[in-house]
Amino acid sequence: MIDVKDKNIIEIKKYIEETKGMEHSESYLIAVLHKVQGLFGYLDREIMDIVAEDMNIPTAHIWGVATFYHYFNLEPIGKHVVSVCMGTACYVKGGDKVLNALETELGVDVGETTEDGLFTLQEARCLGACGIAPVIMIDDKIYGDLDSKKAVDVINQYRKVAK
Ligand code: FES
Repeated sequence: MIDVKDKNIIEIKKYIEETKGMEHSESYLIAVLHKVQGLFGYLDREIMDIVAEDMNIPTAHIWGVATFYHYFNLEPIGKHVVSVCMGTACYVKGGDKVLNALETELGVDVGETTEDGLFTLQEARCLGACGIAPVIMIDDKIYGDLDSKKAVDVINQYRKVAK
């Protein structure tokens, strides 16, 4: 039986095959990287080697493009992505303290994933909810009017559900 990884690889190969002839356009490469991230959650090294071979582009060039754009994840991400808003409104209302509290609670720095694979911590610019600053977003859910303790309480709710 074919596993999910093999199925995703076939889908990426098919996508590259269908759009042959555009290999040298950077926007095409970015579209392929989005496809990989959409299927795997991040740019898996083994898959990127396959992409490089199929597109006939040096792997180093692909990594150069991938690292230039912040929206590509180069490492596996956690089950939940916690984005702490560092926009002006959130910052002046203590967003930095919320971030410090979450770094301590989760035992990771920004950009890292917890050992249990449950959370990836990120910084964000304005999340569009300045009226309830300071704000964090977990996956696509916004939590506002936070302080350090409330932010840790939110994290604990997710931990409870994961048990
Ligand atoms: S600055 Fe944080 S939501 Fe706008």
